[in-house]
Amino acid sequence: MKEVKSFISHLSSIIYSERYTLIAKCIESVSQLKRIIVVAGARPNFMKIARLVERLKKDRNFECLLVHTGQHYDFVMSEVFFQELRIPKPDVFLNVGSGSHAEQTAKIMIAFEAVLLDEKPDLVVVAGDVNSTLACSLTAAKLGVRVAHIESGLRSFDRTMPEEINRVVTDALSDIYFVSEQSGVENLIREGAAKKSIHLVGSVMIDPVLRMAKAIDRSRVLRRLDLKPQNYAVLTLHRPSNVDSLETLAEIYKILSAVSERVRLVYPIHPRTRDRMQTHDLLNQFTGLKDLQMIEPLGYLDFVKLVKESRFVLTDSGSIQEETTYMHIPCLTMRDNTERPSTVEMGTNKLVGRDKKVITKAVDCILNGKWRPGRVPRYWDGKATERILSVLQEI
Ligand code: UD1
Repeated sequence: MKEVKSFISHLSSIIYSERYTLIAKCIESVSQLKRIIVVAGARPNFMKIARLVERLKKDRNFECLLVHTGQHYDFVMSEVFFQELRIPKPDVFLNVGSGSHAEQTAKIMIAFEAVLLDEKPDLVVVAGDVNSTLACSLTAAKLGVRVAHIESGLRSFDRTMPEEINRVVTDALSDIYFVSEQSGVENLIREGAAKKSIHLVGSVMIDPVLRMAKAIDRSRVLRRLDLKPQNYAVLTLHRPSNVDSLETLAEIYKILSAVSERVRLVYPIHPRTRDRMQTHDLLNQFTGLKDLQMIEPLGYLDFVKLVKESRFVLTDSGSIQEETTYMHIPCLTMRDNTERPSTVEMGTNKLVGRDKKVITKAVDCILNGKWRPGRVPRYWDGKATERILSVLQEI
C-alpha cells in the first residue's frame, strides 16, 4: 500500500510539472485516501465488523485492510462467520492461536506491529473487548497510529473480568469512541474522554440481525435439532468465572438439573467450557442430563434463529444480552454485573448470578408468561455501521 502511494505522489509531481493539472489532481485525490486497518480476532468481533469492512472496501475514499489475529481459529469459531456474513477474506492473518493472556496478547502485538510498520495506516479500528482488541490498540497507540474503538465505554466495573481490563485500556488509548448505549457515553466522559470524540452510534450487534433477517429465517436449525418454536431455551456459558473451577461447574450442574426439569435446554458448547468439563471430569455428568442437549458451536444464522424462536436464553455472554433485548426474548444472565446496563434497565435482561433459587424463580416466571417484553435502546436499529461510516468520512 505505502509503495503505491509514494509512487503516486512522485508521479503527481511529475505530472504537475508537465501542467497536466486535472490529471494530477485526480491522482492526488487517490493519495488522499484514508488508510484504515480493521481488526478482528475472536468470534464476537466478526459480526461487529462485517458490514463495516464491506462498506469501507467499496468506498473510494478509503483503502481498507482487514487483519484477522487468529485468536479464534476453529471453523466453527471463525470461518463459518466469514462465509455466512460474507466478510471478505482477511488481507492479513496473524495466526496467533490460543495461549495465556500475556502470551496471546504479546504474540498479537509483535505480529501486528510488523503489519503497522509495513502498511502505515491512518487509523486502526478495533471492536469489543477481547484480547485482540487490547493488543492491537496498544500496538497502534505506541506507534502513534490513531485508534477507533467500536463498543467503547462499556464498563462492568469488575476488574476480575479480563474483558473489563481490555475495555478500560483500549478506551484509555483510543482517539475515536463509537458507543452502543448511553451508559458508555457517561463512563467515557467521567474518565476524561473528549466529548467531541464520543459518538453514540448504537449497537453494531443489531446490524447483522436485520441485514441477514431472511437468511436467518431460512435456517433449518430447529428441524435439525428436532425443536419446536417456544418449546426450549438456549444456554451459552464460557466465562472463566463460571466454567474454570470445579466448584463453579458443580454449582452450574445443579442449576442446569433444576432448569432442565422445567424446559428443554439447548447448549452450543464453547470449546473452552468443554475443555474445562473434561479437565474436572464432569463432562459425562453434564451430557447425562436428559433435557440438556449439548451441541457443537453454531454458525451465526443458526444461532440467531435458535435464539429468536426460543422461550428464553440463559447465558454469561455479553453480546447476547443485546441481541435478546432487541428480539424481546427473555434473557437470564449468569453474572453479578453487566457492562450493558440498558439491557437490564430497558430490555429483557436480568442478572441472576449462579443463584439457583433466583434462576428457577425467574424461569417459572418466564414459563408462566409473566416476563416483561422490554424496550429497545436508542439507535439499536440496524444502522450503527452507517453512523460509524459517516464519522469516518469526516476524519
Ligand atoms: C474470548 C474472549 C471473550 C469472548 C469469547 C467468545 C478474551 C479475553 N476473551 O474468550 O471475551 O466472550 O472469546 O468466544 O479475549 N479455543 C478453541 N478454538 C478456537 C478458539 C479457542 O478450541 O477457535 C479454545 C482453546 O482451548 C482456548 C480457549 O478456547 O485456550 C479459550 O480461547 P480464548 O480465545 O483464549 O478465549 P475465549 O474463552 O474464547
